[in-house]
Amino acid sequence: MKKIVVLISGSGTNLQRIIDCVESGEIADTKISLVVADRDCYGLQRAENAGIPHQLIKRGKSFSEKLEKIVPEDIDLVVLAGFLSILNEQFCKKFQNKIINIHPALLPKFGGLGMWGMNVHNAVLEAGEKESGATVHFVTAGIDEGGIILQQSFEIGANETPEGLAEKVHAVEYDIFPKAINKILNYK
Ligand code: GAR
Repeated sequence: MKKIVVLISGSGTNLQRIIDCVESGEIADTKISLVVADRDCYGLQRAENAGIPHQLIKRGKSFSEKLEKIVPEDIDLVVLAGFLSILNEQFCKKFQNKIINIHPALLPKFGGLGMWGMNVHNAVLEAGEKESGATVHFVTAGIDEGGIILQQSFEIGANETPEGLAEKVHAVEYDIFPKAINKILNYK
């Protein structure tokens, strides 16, 4: 049985998708051993509802050190599912190739500091991009710079709004996130 830890900062709809896929077996032979949030958020309630151990570590300077103490040494994957803190270099090195993140755009475009959530969708529309999508990538100390595991795009229609774009990106995320997790854990 593979063990994963999921890190969240928000409403946790991607976390919910992962919970559902683990329960249905779409992500096979896997257990979510812990959910960690860096702020009080609805995602913690989702973990509670699913009976998954969960913990709040307030965001700030020592977040990564505190996290390192509670992530099991033999964890198979640390999954960032709408997680907004930056993990320090020591943590990224310790779990090298075992940390993945979902990003709401087509990296390497629209990544880096400040590029999260609605900021990304606003920037994509302001730049007049013809397409957007989502990317699952490995996490390294450089923000949004690790190797790409899966990416999926769609065309942006005329008169698209940031909210409409966010919804379409989320739909892509629900599709590719479980696939990326399976790719790494179950070689599927
Ligand atoms: C997702 O769209 C995810 O890609 C994005 O936050 C949203 C979280 O939604 N992550 C980032 O912007 C990280 N840079 P959720 O809480 O409903 O899963």
